[in-house]
Amino acid sequence: MLRSALIAASRSAGCRSVVERTPLMRPIVDRFVAGSAVDDAVRVAHELAADRLISFDHLGEDTLDRAQAEQTVEAYRTVLARLDAEGLGGKAEVSVKLSGLGQALAVDGEKIALENTRRICEAAAAAGTTVTVDMEDHTTTDSTLSIVRALRADFPATGTVLQAYLKRTEADCADFAGPGSRIRLCKGAYDEPASVAYRDKSEVDASYVRCLKVLMAGQGYPMVATHDSRLIEIGERLAGQAGRSRDGYEFQMLYGVRPQVQAQLAARGLRMRVYVPYGTEWYSYFMRRLGERPANMAFFLRALTRR
Ligand code: FDA
Repeated sequence: MLRSALIAASRSAGCRSVVERTPLMRPIVDRFVAGSAVDDAVRVAHELAADRLISFDHLGEDTLDRAQAEQTVEAYRTVLARLDAEGLGGKAEVSVKLSGLGQALAVDGEKIALENTRRICEAAAAAGTTVTVDMEDHTTTDSTLSIVRALRADFPATGTVLQAYLKRTEADCADFAGPGSRIRLCKGAYDEPASVAYRDKSEVDASYVRCLKVLMAGQGYPMVATHDSRLIEIGERLAGQAGRSRDGYEFQMLYGVRPQVQAQLAARGLRMRVYVPYGTEWYSYFMRRLGERPANMAFFLRALTRR
């Protein structure tokens, strides 16, 4: 219930203005967000790059303004040029949210998001790296997958996210398990109805394992995005059973979440990528992270009540 309330709050302008104006919130936000500017993201990337890979996320979603979507494209072109200039091209990629690139615009939203993401893919290719398309709520899944298919025609290494909590995902994994595909499998972070999604943790976890089996047995590159130790162990075991070498798949975690486990996996020679969000539009991303762990909520409430 708490998680549903936080996800609802992540889309409320009223809650946003209260949370953003709470001065004591900044240290809690800083745990999950690398900073406001591209320099902050690049600094964090250099710190992580000793033993980890990176995916940059320029924060921003749900835009209904074409000019803002254009600014997001420019922000990605800037970070891609920076990672190229700093020699991070082999270590870092970018993650994009299509709702920040125009997908939700009333007129031609899908077409505009495709063209905007294509321009980011061009900049990524020039920097020697790739793009992974995040997955948002279930009303956008078909549109997102159709955009990813179109992008892969020209940029075959374009990856996408599939969410194990959706009942459709095992079939989507089978569709996307072919040669060259890059699939980031996560549990799913939105509040989805029981008509389309598993709502019990045990059912989501069981679905995650079924999806992992499909991806590991397939011909693509599975990206195991979870902080759940049990699923990480299962992922490693399934990769071994499928005959994958250590560079035939990777683990992924979010910046600020279980950093010691990230370091331990990397120290064992496993590929570990950290998703590094940065920018000023942190509110929705931050609220979803709060809902994932009750202890995060305690820090948040303390900051809110001391404003
Ligand atoms: P689970 O929530 O069961 O957590 C397992 C353990 O990890 C917890 O017990 C806790 O110890 C720790 N943990 C998890 N989250 C934490 C947090 N926020 N703070 C502190 N500790 C935490 N979702 C989506 O819908 N679309 C997307 O595109 C993406 N993209 C994405 C990329 C990457 C790289 C990752 C790692 C995750 C996503 N997600 C996502 C988010 C994902 O769907 C999910 O909500 C979170 O990863 C939490 O689920 P876990 O698999 O970690 O398991």
